[in-house]
Amino acid sequence: MSLPLSGIKVIDFTMVQAGPACTQLMAWYGADVTKVERPNGGDSTRHQLRDIPGADALYFTMLNSNKKSIVIDLKKPEGKAVLTKMIETYDVFVENFAPGVVDRLGFPWEKIHELNPRMILASGKGFPEGSRFSDIKAYENVAQCAGGSASTTGFWDGPPTVSAGALGDSNTGLHLLIAILTALIDREKTGKGQKVHTSMQESCLDLCRVKLRDQQRLERVGYLEEYPQYPIRKDGKYGTFGAAVPRGGNAGGGGQPGWVLKCKDWQKDPNSYIYMTIQDTNWVRTAEAIGHPEWAHDPKYNTARAREPIFFDICAEIEKWLADKTKYEAISILRKSEVPCAPVLDMKELENDPDLRANGTIVEVPHPVRGTYVTIGSVMKFSGFTPAKVTGSPLLGEHTDEILASLGYKADEIAKLHAAKIVDPAVQVAKTAADAKIVAAGEAKARAAKTHAAE
Ligand SMILES: CC(C)(COP(=O)(O)OP(=O)(O)OC[C@H]1O[C@@H](n2cnc3c(N)ncnc32)[C@H](O)[C@@H]1OP(=O)(O)O)[C@@H](O)C(=O)NCCC(=O)NCCS
Repeated sequence: MSLPLSGIKVIDFTMVQAGPACTQLMAWYGADVTKVERPNGGDSTRHQLRDIPGADALYFTMLNSNKKSIVIDLKKPEGKAVLTKMIETYDVFVENFAPGVVDRLGFPWEKIHELNPRMILASGKGFPEGSRFSDIKAYENVAQCAGGSASTTGFWDGPPTVSAGALGDSNTGLHLLIAILTALIDREKTGKGQKVHTSMQESCLDLCRVKLRDQQRLERVGYLEEYPQYPIRKDGKYGTFGAAVPRGGNAGGGGQPGWVLKCKDWQKDPNSYIYMTIQDTNWVRTAEAIGHPEWAHDPKYNTARAREPIFFDICAEIEKWLADKTKYEAISILRKSEVPCAPVLDMKELENDPDLRANGTIVEVPHPVRGTYVTIGSVMKFSGFTPAKVTGSPLLGEHTDEILASLGYKADEIAKLHAAKIVDPAVQVAKTAADAKIVAAGEAKARAAKTHAAE
């Protein structure tokens, strides 16, 4: 079956998470994605946080499936010539190297546009072009701190806190992908490519939109009633409002208050909690569900306004009701009364979640060196097509010769490029699973010998 992006050829000059997350999705939806990697190891995530000696780390395999890999030394003229040929014949060039890297390699946007006016260049950086921070390199938490997430996450008595969600990394990849798809549609109409750019700071801020909403509300009225700091609650016990949106703990971000509540055995299980929302329109059924039917029509409880000052007292009462219930038991009761709620699911539970496995969100992928690993497939489902089956990520330089041949290089020219170390991968490329195990074992041995020598 032809997938929607089939025929779109992508130069994937990306690394770490933001860029690779974008191009991996393109590959799942049919694009022909070729990862251009540097000599001496390629994408740094191949080696970071390794759990199997010699094998590409999960950080890499989980963000680079369904791609090809070519290793080119872009600092050498012959390597630049290979990339030039790719630019002339590909559709999209995605990059998230440090500011100025692509220009320094000799491929500024003007040059790319001149080589191929239909080419779309997608650039992801830490900060916007023209920003006073634009020269700074960035990783996830850098973006969360600069993008409004850290200052508004955590508890009132703790420091700015980062979220586990990749708001700076994968989220930037998603924004970049939306920009690329929009530019591809625009190209259909105009025949011309363009440069699209987004930054981790902006992509993170985009997801903190409601905090900017809150900032303006705070400036206008001086308080935010859904935050624990709301002055009618306990005289500053939960902190006070200052000039900027404070950290609100687990307060609900919308107009419906909620909190994380302890369930049975929370002392032993760090994730024995539920999130429960008190929906104003559902108050009567909520009060009945939590074992307090007498609250349903009591004016001390039966309006949102009445509940605001005593919200945490109500939470404490609900926790008494939850004390003998597991999070799953609690949810099965609350859902019957249409209470918006969820168990706090830990990563082990999610890894083995039967529904997420059944619908292709959690998938098992074979890899020639690692064996089978678990990853997250396309979380977007389509009625018209099924995204590509997730395959293992490419070994470093696995498709070097294939790509060169597709660009018109003859066998003797390819051999010359190898001999001159223009396209040689830094580690031997395994051609079969058995070879791969030998390469992996060799790397592990070399590392052990090095460690031994150092001791
Ligand atoms: C992620 C980041 C911090 C990593 O920094 P880094 O590991 O120091 O890598 P850089 O991006 O500086 O690039 C390193 C060098 O590799 C070189 N390189 C990359 N591919 C190459 C290739 N195929 N051949 C030759 N050299 C290559 C670059 O030219 C650069 O060299 P230079 O500094 O001499 O110009 C940085 O790339 C960055 O800030 N990127 C933008 C934001 C981003 O996406 N962050 C990651 C989010 S997941």
